[in-house]
Amino acid sequence: MCGIIAITTRKKTNVSKMITSGLKRLEYRGYDSVGIATINEGQIQIMKDAGTIDQVTRKYPFETLQGSTGIGHTRWATHGPPTKINAHPHADCSNSLMVVHNGIIDNYLSLRKELKKQGHIFTSETDTEVLAHLIEEEFKSEEGPDAVIRAFKKALAKIEGTYAITLIHTADPTKIFLARKDSPLVIGVQDDTKFAASDIPAFLEYTKNAIVLKNGEVATLTPEAVYIEKNGFRVQPKPFIVSWTAESAQKSGYPHFMLKEIHEQPIALQNTLSVNINAIEEATKQIFEADKIILLAAGTSYHAALTGYYQFQRLLSKKPIYPIIASEYDTYQQLVDENTCILAVSQSGETLDVMKGLTSARKAGAKIISIANVIDSSIPRLSKVSLYTKAGPEIGVAATKTHTTQVALLARLALQLEYSLEGWLEKEFSSIISNFSAEVPSIARAVITQNELKSKQLAAHISNQNHSYFLARGRNLPIAMEGALKLKEISYIHAEAFPAGESKHGPIAIVEPNFPVFVISPKDETGKKMLSNSEEMKARGGYIVSITHKDQEVVKRSDQSFLIPESSSHLVTPISYVIPLQMISYYAAVHRGFDPDKPKNLAKTVTVE
Ligand code: M6R
Repeated sequence: MCGIIAITTRKKTNVSKMITSGLKRLEYRGYDSVGIATINEGQIQIMKDAGTIDQVTRKYPFETLQGSTGIGHTRWATHGPPTKINAHPHADCSNSLMVVHNGIIDNYLSLRKELKKQGHIFTSETDTEVLAHLIEEEFKSEEGPDAVIRAFKKALAKIEGTYAITLIHTADPTKIFLARKDSPLVIGVQDDTKFAASDIPAFLEYTKNAIVLKNGEVATLTPEAVYIEKNGFRVQPKPFIVSWTAESAQKSGYPHFMLKEIHEQPIALQNTLSVNINAIEEATKQIFEADKIILLAAGTSYHAALTGYYQFQRLLSKKPIYPIIASEYDTYQQLVDENTCILAVSQSGETLDVMKGLTSARKAGAKIISIANVIDSSIPRLSKVSLYTKAGPEIGVAATKTHTTQVALLARLALQLEYSLEGWLEKEFSSIISNFSAEVPSIARAVITQNELKSKQLAAHISNQNHSYFLARGRNLPIAMEGALKLKEISYIHAEAFPAGESKHGPIAIVEPNFPVFVISPKDETGKKMLSNSEEMKARGGYIVSITHKDQEVVKRSDQSFLIPESSSHLVTPISYVIPLQMISYYAAVHRGFDPDKPKNLAKTVTVE
């Protein structure tokens, strides 16, 4: 939550333009206020306000700020409403320094009280502003060339909480100072320009050379060099080359990132299924060795994890498997010991609820496998085995291609488990894998092509509704849950998913004529009962939208049907059946006049509890 970027360059150029374009690429992390500060001829310049980047830059042309060192921030408010004074960057009393911050300073109230007693004047309600005054206070007793970094480190020692911080100071005007604890920060390296940002796409158009700043590390960037330290000792940076392209972080002609990302699913699935076999085998080994498995995730990633639960449970019927929503981890922590294998699923690899659970599980001796999309993010770094979805950057706040690729990777893992359990011949197994790897992207492509227009029409039809239900049974339940989450989070139509059999225990009470009921009915053992449950809804006037195969009975009894091509494996179903639901949600948001890429009150990466 919150996007930060910092740039320092030796080039005779103003960094404000680059910072503004970087902020646009980080906007998915928060978009309620935005700001920028540069140092020009030893003076701080700042522009900031509440609103999106486009709204604010219309009023304050960020690109006119001069200077070759600067920082920027796009905010998702935690402390204090989205207003001009609460927007970052935040300054000290004398406007000598500016900070931007992503995270939460837990002890900010006591620090603020103390600093006020010392005479500091606060202008905002944020937790971040204490950082600026704390550094200012520590700087008073420092002198010499390293005074700023020393003051910064002393200030960091006094704060509790989570942070990614970038700092600029007029006393050292070409440097950027960074610190990280539990919120992401990546450094970008170009000859005479250095970048720091919450996420790689912010600087991808300038460089593919990156260094991940790790927890507890503090760094100084000059235009020529990167200096990292931890606990007072120098750390050798480990640069890597980013495989994502700059184009992959752009809309490429699509009106929204979400629609582009829906359309990217076939290729994302194909890439993801070309797996690192060593990692898959190691993950399989950990799963077999453990005496219980916990699948841990949040939001859409939890729905993928739940799909994994149904797949694994079918294979490992004697091993306890628990799908757990990450923010509820504490309730289950007594289950975790050194014989537990935790499979964490997270697109960003930074979700704090998941991180907290994993940190506690690691202390208990559990072995961690992770599935993430962002390479080398915090969750993979806590893991014994890291598997990656190769979906490329996902900018739309609503997860689409990262969800289906998570499900595909879990299915691939399930196939590997099955191979070991069933004693398939290697030849037989490799033919199963290559069929699966070819079928998944091709079905995804067909589903998109055959259902997009219909999705758009249906979205228009249901757009005046305020409520909807999503029904499924058994292993199809995560599809319904994901469909409901998608619809509610971007179109703001209230959507509820539940096992179809539960309808009669309460939910059916509010069904009335035209109430949209989405019925997930693949060709499997749940079909018959789904039909009855759907009929019950229809009898009360429900508008039945079935996501189904070529079953004439289901189609005949539905008001609308989305037909999904049949596949050779039930493992494909949670991928192919969720795609029309993504498209319906997208078009419903657009039809209702909302920006699906930036749903209100949400941010892509959730780094608060
Ligand atoms: O980065 P993660 O996959 O850990 O994020 C988890 C959730 O915050 C995320 O899936 C969220 O539910 C999205 N809004 C889904 O579209």
